Amino acid sequence: MALFLFLFLATTLGISQGSDQDTVPHKIHLLRPQSGAAGNHVPGLSCLSWRLGVETNNVVGWITVPEECEEYVGHYMLGHQYRKDSRVVANQALLYAQSLSLARDGKDVWVFDIDETALSNLPYYAHHGFGVEPYNPTLFSKWVTEGKAPALPETLNLYKKLLSLGTKVVFLTGRPEYQRSVTANNLRKAGYHTWEKLILKGSSYSGKSAVVYKSSERKKLAMSGYKIIGNMGDQWSDLLGTDVGNRTFKVPDPMYYIS
Ligand SMILES: *[C@@H]1O[C@H](CO)[C@@H](O)[C@H](O)[C@H]1NC(C)=O
Ligand SMILES: [Mg+2]
Repeated sequence: MALFLFLFLATTLGISQGSDQDTVPHKIHLLRPQSGAAGNHVPGLSCLSWRLGVETNNVVGWITVPEECEEYVGHYMLGHQYRKDSRVVANQALLYAQSLSLARDGKDVWVFDIDETALSNLPYYAHHGFGVEPYNPTLFSKWVTEGKAPALPETLNLYKKLLSLGTKVVFLTGRPEYQRSVTANNLRKAGYHTWEKLILKGSSYSGKSAVVYKSSERKKLAMSGYKIIGNMGDQWSDLLGTDVGNRTFKVPDPMYYIS
């Protein structure tokens, strides 16, 4: 099962297969005690309805995937539906971009979030689990530092097409400033070879929400003459606030919530 999922993941995201045993992820959902210490059990919850609620920003402020939806989310992320859903988003974004008559003055920019938008941390989550506290800052930071996150293929495809339309790309990420070089290297390795700006979260924003930080950085872009024609992210906090851009595109992500 684990091998099957790994091969599937390798195929779907185009990640390279490591040669040693350690690189084979564990089962997609780690077992948790049946006693349910996490206490986020919701009786009769439809996981599809929950995911829809997350994507529509009706379910907000959640800390972990509900216990009974861990397996559902794992299969959604590693199966075909996540990719199909991502494809619809990217296709709509491309249709929109193609419909514009851009000035090609170098001022039209498309803002991309990085994690779960341009790059995918799915290998990390497949290894560590989708449910009970999958977010471990130490382990996640180690994964980021390895710089091995593959591209979300649909986003990479959109990125290339936007560049060919004469759009500039800005990456705006919640990753901290000290991860700049590893992030830049990972982007290049994944196929994102150029950008107008790579904006990481500086220390002046410590303790500030993603909405505040990203709004403020987008405002700076607008003030310096850039026109944000499109903005794409996996979190609503990438897309809400000020100077959000002429259109926003929400990439699916039922794995975690960032305000
Ligand atoms: C974006 O929105 C602004 C403000 O509404 C508008 O002036 C501009 O024409 C729009 N640009 C595009 C490319 O739609
Ligand atoms: Mg993200």
